[in-house]
Amino acid sequence: MSTTALRRQAPIVDFAPATPAAPAAAQPPGDSVHGLAIDVQGLRKSFGANPVLNGIDLHVAAGQFVAIVGRSGSGKSTLLRLLLGLEQPSAGTFSFADGAERIDNLRVARVMFQEPRLLPWASVIANVEVGLGADRKTAGSGDRALATLAAVELEEKRNAWPAVLSGGQKQRVSLARALVSRPRVLALDEPLGALDALTRISMQRLLERMWLDQGFTALLVTHDVAEAVTLADRVIVIDDGAIALDIRIELPRPRQRGSADVAALEGRILDKLFAGAESP
Ligand SMILES: Nc1ncnc2c1ncn2[C@@H]1O[C@H](COP(=O)(O)OP(=O)(O)OP(=O)(O)O)[C@@H](O)[C@H]1O
Ligand SMILES: [Mg+2]
Repeated sequence: MSTTALRRQAPIVDFAPATPAAPAAAQPPGDSVHGLAIDVQGLRKSFGANPVLNGIDLHVAAGQFVAIVGRSGSGKSTLLRLLLGLEQPSAGTFSFADGAERIDNLRVARVMFQEPRLLPWASVIANVEVGLGADRKTAGSGDRALATLAAVELEEKRNAWPAVLSGGQKQRVSLARALVSRPRVLALDEPLGALDALTRISMQRLLERMWLDQGFTALLVTHDVAEAVTLADRVIVIDDGAIALDIRIELPRPRQRGSADVAALEGRILDKLFAGAESP
């Protein structure tokens, strides 16, 4: 059975049982990286007569932080949805791998969206526990959920209802829910897009800290080029259904917003985005 066929049986959104915890990677990628490598070959997707992705080839190293930018409608969310098994490709293949071993179980991945999608009738801690799936009933799961809530600095809100949280706090609960199972791949589709500028910057720092601590492979779709350059090891620009630019960001972390190095890379990416917008 092909990898793609296996994916069809295991949609990502069902908060399935967690993978066993692995030691935290202090600075991914390293020798024992928790994240999985992702290999995408000739991936195409059309909706009816509308071609959206026209053959994406991409290799993401284990534990790499990749930002995906592109104009609205360029196919960024579609690419994430394909990789998460939420859409079926029209052609092409993709797979996840741990060293030489292929991993066909999508339960190793989690996703976070722009809307926090919390259960309104469940407390904050219960919302985090949802991310453990069936592991919720195992010994130590409560401690694990609480530790993850503490990592996103919301331990004191554990018994609160989602309705009383601010937008930034809700997104932190959503991040804790996504990370409590220690996923090996985390897909983020504009997770910070609805937040005000200051909350957004503090969430970016939190996300970077969690990535450094857990070592998952991160795929971040964002419209914010500064966010992409500040957080990612690599920025990919999607235009016209293909990868128009693929650059490494090798600046030391934490990166200084507004520094000349960050600004120069932002300029390069924006030039490519505007070039795409102006072409017929
Ligand atoms: N389920 C669907 N059925 C039909 N067309 C779709 C479907 N999902 C996406 N599309 C189309 O595919 C194209 C790419 O959509 P996608 O959501 O991937 O873009 P995007 O790059 O994420 O845009 P945005 O930045 O606005 O979120 C759009 O033209 C969209 O209308
Ligand atoms: Mg989108």
